[in-house]
Amino acid sequence: MTSYPDAALSRTYDSVLELIGNTPLVRLNVLTRGLPASVYVKLDHFNIGGSSKDRIAVNILREAVANGELQGGARIIETGQGNTSIALALAGVLTGHPSTVIAKPDLSPGKLNLLRLLGVDVIPGRFDVDKDDPEHAWSVAEREVAAHDDLWWSRQQSVRSNPAAHYASTGPELWHQTEGRITHFIAAIATGGTVSGTGRFLRERTPGIQVIGTTFDLPERPWADAALNKVFHRAPGHEELEQDWADNVDLEQLDALEARTKGEVIDFAFRLARTEGLLLGLSSVLSIKVALERAESANPGDVIVAFSADHARDYTAAEYDEQWLRTHDFGDIADRWFTN
Ligand SMILES: Cc1ncc(COP(=O)(O)O)c(C=O)c1O
Repeated sequence: MTSYPDAALSRTYDSVLELIGNTPLVRLNVLTRGLPASVYVKLDHFNIGGSSKDRIAVNILREAVANGELQGGARIIETGQGNTSIALALAGVLTGHPSTVIAKPDLSPGKLNLLRLLGVDVIPGRFDVDKDDPEHAWSVAEREVAAHDDLWWSRQQSVRSNPAAHYASTGPELWHQTEGRITHFIAAIATGGTVSGTGRFLRERTPGIQVIGTTFDLPERPWADAALNKVFHRAPGHEELEQDWADNVDLEQLDALEARTKGEVIDFAFRLARTEGLLLGLSSVLSIKVALERAESANPGDVIVAFSADHARDYTAAEYDEQWLRTHDFGDIADRWFTN
């Protein structure tokens, strides 16, 4: 049991910025029964803004100020739909930069209101059209940047300070928290910052470590599974597909890529919540599912770490809502978990 107060945690913090990083690493105890390896989860919703993106937001702003790209008081523009835009807006508040976010029409009211709470100027843009379409969020951002001298776009997909933030914080934290015993690191891929930066740090310390990226196998992104496998294995046609992956996905740091369907991940999210008491976002659940599968064939004593980017609270109006499940073809999952 924890004793109160815990001497190591009994302190005050001089700024909200100190509440970014140094997040807990917790062991799974129920779902791992009988497995040879231990599985831990890095809980990055403990960051003050509620997700792992706080780490990169602060680092991206710091670097942009240091290299003169982001001048005092200039406005930040962002196309990320949720965690990154909230994290950048928060870091902007703390460093004196207002924010504009290009938001998709169906952005959840919860996320929209969080952005508004932080004083963000929200402009509409779409992601369901071709990247060259003038309505695409990136085209809207390009036009805004061209029209306003004081607008600065973080470009988290390619900016090196994104993986560098994880190299400087997530990697060392995991190394110390596992006392150097970590054997597998498993994280979901979007921009690639988490898996590339953390992976690079850990690989430098533990040459044999397995770094595994995870992704959703989605019907609306039929290229995803084919793309990741072709790109990863440098199979014929991989160059064409590479453009679908962000520049910050560093394939050199990856030992494997694993895709799971949304249905199997949502289903497992309920099991995870009701066994381990972990209320986590979908990409986190995806990585934990892959981690547990790996643990089945792992060596005794292996230490597998799954990365959790955010909390279940961000998904309660969608994937964790009974009506949403029933109207999105996941009625079987709703039947299984909402019937007592
Ligand atoms: C919930 C969630 N999980 C995982 C990721 C992937 O992180 P990264 O962009 O570092 O690859 C993101 C980033 O957008 C995210 O918001």
